[in-house]
Amino acid sequence: MPDRSKVLSKGTGPKELYVKKIRNGTVIDHILAGHALDVLKILGIHGGEGHIVSVAMNVISKKQNKKDIVKVENRELKPGEVDKIALIAPSATISIIRDYEVAEKMRVKLPDSIRGIVRCSNPACVSNAEPVEPKFTVERQDPLRLRCYYCVRIMEKTDVLKQF
Ligand code: CTP
Repeated sequence: MPDRSKVLSKGTGPKELYVKKIRNGTVIDHILAGHALDVLKILGIHGGEGHIVSVAMNVISKKQNKKDIVKVENRELKPGEVDKIALIAPSATISIIRDYEVAEKMRVKLPDSIRGIVRCSNPACVSNAEPVEPKFTVERQDPLRLRCYYCVRIMEKTDVLKQF
């Protein structure tokens, strides 16, 4: 059994955790401050699903920057969700927690080009008419700026979030 005093607080004084550690589930940490609700949207979490979810917004990170954290108990990420989180929170880390231990940890990564995660917001784009996979160049990560490979339409974070 883990020592609950260590579970509730890591170190002493200012190192105390904002949100207690979880037994099983997923922690999305180092989310760009103010974007936690976007991450919940990507995960399809609206509150009625029954998961225990903890959200911390605008907390001070070890590097003294502000960040958001999302902890979802008893839920691991589905394929594709990590790529979507990378679009909205390119600096996030994702930890899979099993029996209080970090079983897997990854830093999300937004590649230079993306395929298939989002569709072009231009209704006239060939990728919306023909059976071709949508493809975008990542021109900028933060704030997000994607350029459609086919029609050069620029998509920003708000355009992307509408699809999730
Ligand atoms: N965590 C948790 N429950 C656990 C274990 C870890 O909620 N049982 C959380 C931690 O609070 C942290 C994240 O999972 O937000 C990653 O854990 P860990 O790698 O132990 O933390 P740090 O070393 O502080 O990570 P980083 O350097 O990425 O800040």
